[in-house]
Amino acid sequence: MNLNIFYKILQKWKNIMTNPVKLRFPVHTLDGQLLLPEGSELTEDALGLLVAAHPSCALKTYPLMDHGTVQKDIFSLFNRPPYDVVFSDSDSIAEIVDIMKTVWFAAPVLDVLDFFKMQDVPTYHHMLTIFALTILIARDLIPGYRNRVSEIVCGPTHDFGKICVPLEILKKQQPLTLNELDHLKHHTLAGYVLLSYYFGDSRSIAALVARDHHERSNGSGYPKGIKQQDLMVEIVAVCDIYDALISPRPYRLDSFDNRTALEVLTAMAQKREIGWRVVKALIAHNRASKPGCHEAVVSVEKRGTPPADNCYGILADE
Ligand SMILES: [Fe+2]
Ligand SMILES: [Fe+2]
Repeated sequence: MNLNIFYKILQKWKNIMTNPVKLRFPVHTLDGQLLLPEGSELTEDALGLLVAAHPSCALKTYPLMDHGTVQKDIFSLFNRPPYDVVFSDSDSIAEIVDIMKTVWFAAPVLDVLDFFKMQDVPTYHHMLTIFALTILIARDLIPGYRNRVSEIVCGPTHDFGKICVPLEILKKQQPLTLNELDHLKHHTLAGYVLLSYYFGDSRSIAALVARDHHERSNGSGYPKGIKQQDLMVEIVAVCDIYDALISPRPYRLDSFDNRTALEVLTAMAQKREIGWRVVKALIAHNRASKPGCHEAVVSVEKRGTPPADNCYGILADE
């Protein structure tokens, strides 16, 4: 490697590691309590003070699957193509549901799910879908994953920070301005702060997933541009992209068809933005024959057609 490039990479890494991230927007709870104002640096000390100020252990928790219509909604998501194939194995479903039943949340966390169910249904469905998909893929890829079920809470809470993004931005059908895009990206750090606060632990996997699920394996993501390394975070990240592609979104008229969505993931894996092993597992579950996640053959042939009128990634004039 050229010495100059090596030096630049080293500097970037040093900057990432030594400079704490600064919040570009405030972080508040659903009921409007300000946790950290705009401009706050996310240091260990700042988060430690916030966590210490909140008696998370005193919060009563409730089973997620018994909350409102969550269980019914998850089952209806299993029937929606292509998830009717992805979740077609009855033994897998039984085990996934069994694990889901072990997840309990405090009321403020459940309130956030209710908020999206009322105000932004696609985001609510997305949170539940990522919950199920994450468990499905973790079963394949994480040895002894049953011992890590406490980490499964990261699925439904990964986009928790979107309560700190105005609904007009979340539902905007036209290209976002740069400022609006920055505000949308704020959901990663906001989720990290909020979940650290509610779970009383800034190192909990749920908090880390909220912060890092838009990071990429080659460092091309956000908020910090670090290289994605944790497998659980990577699983959520890939499932997140997949579900976003095949589901309705405000910024495009049509969803991606399943073939094209899997081609997008394959192309991202080829560019080393996301990991092959998770993409392969997802592709294996998309095959009716259900090959093992290591045996699935991935086609790199491009046959799909992305939907027209997709303004994702296009910026509007300020
Ligand atoms: Fe997200
Ligand atoms: Fe998401």
